[in-house]
Amino acid sequence: MRDKKRGGLPVLSVKNLKVSFDIENRTVEALKGISFDIYPKEIVALVGESGSGKSVTCYSILRILPKNAFVSGEIILRGEERQENILKAGSKRLREIRGNRISMIFQEPSAVLDPLMRVGDQIVESIIAHRKVSYSEAKKLAVESMKKARIPDPVKRFYQYPHELSGGLKQRVVIAAGIANNPLILLADEPTTALDVTVSAQILRLFEDLRDQLGVGILLITHDLGIVAEIADRVLVIYRGQIVEEGNVFEIFDNPKHPYTKKLLESRPTLKNVI
Ligand SMILES: Nc1ncnc2c1ncn2[C@@H]1O[C@H](COP(=O)(O)OP(=O)(O)OP(=O)(O)O)[C@@H](O)[C@H]1O
Ligand SMILES: [Mg+2]
Repeated sequence: MRDKKRGGLPVLSVKNLKVSFDIENRTVEALKGISFDIYPKEIVALVGESGSGKSVTCYSILRILPKNAFVSGEIILRGEERQENILKAGSKRLREIRGNRISMIFQEPSAVLDPLMRVGDQIVESIIAHRKVSYSEAKKLAVESMKKARIPDPVKRFYQYPHELSGGLKQRVVIAAGIANNPLILLADEPTTALDVTVSAQILRLFEDLRDQLGVGILLITHDLGIVAEIADRVLVIYRGQIVEEGNVFEIFDNPKHPYTKKLLESRPTLKNVI
């Protein structure tokens, strides 16, 4: 864990974000006015129990919520040339933002990879969707991205199909596609749930590496507090749609203030309560 002074402006500022869902005659308030910033080159961990609003936070940032969702507040994205409120962006601009300025990595790589398409071409597709480049140029960029995602032997892997790759490599392919257009932000929603412990740790290390290599800001949703302690620069604790605690890992782990955070830390598997 690094404790560094942040310079400059946040690349993403979420301000008083409220999301509710209309279900039949009921309204479910999923987010009750959350605010947080992500700076370039930092990993912000979002932790909280099931149903607390973590995924809805990511979906709001990408504007991929279902039609029955009502959203208010502001989500400011600050790029090199422009600053904009994502919640006000039109559909054309949203297509430019998704996968280009902001990429999302989901839990299950097999669910996002096309089983009938070579993995390299899937990365090429995400490049061509946003840039006017030839196939051979896009292929070169895809292989570079695969290298940045630390895929061994990327040229050979380019021609393989998803079923020929391990779970960890598949997730690296998804990450390679996600970083191929040099996004400002990566949203990772429990990116290692489908993987075993060792591979999971390697993938989380990769996020650390990408933060340092690419200077990207990362919102990392994970249940693994051990990993949070090691790689996150800042932690947000969300509880029933509200951020109840925010701070660096030392502040939160050594001196949890909210009762929910205390409970979360107590339920963390440690040697003491495993043996
Ligand atoms: N499409 C939807 N329609 C109605 N309610 C929804 C919808 N999506 C999410 N919700 C509700 O919003 C709340 C937050 O859900 P969310 O999926 O963000 O939780 P989460 O923190 O990601 O949980 P988990 O750890 O299980 O993934 C929950 O109460 C959920 O039931
Ligand atoms: Mg979720």
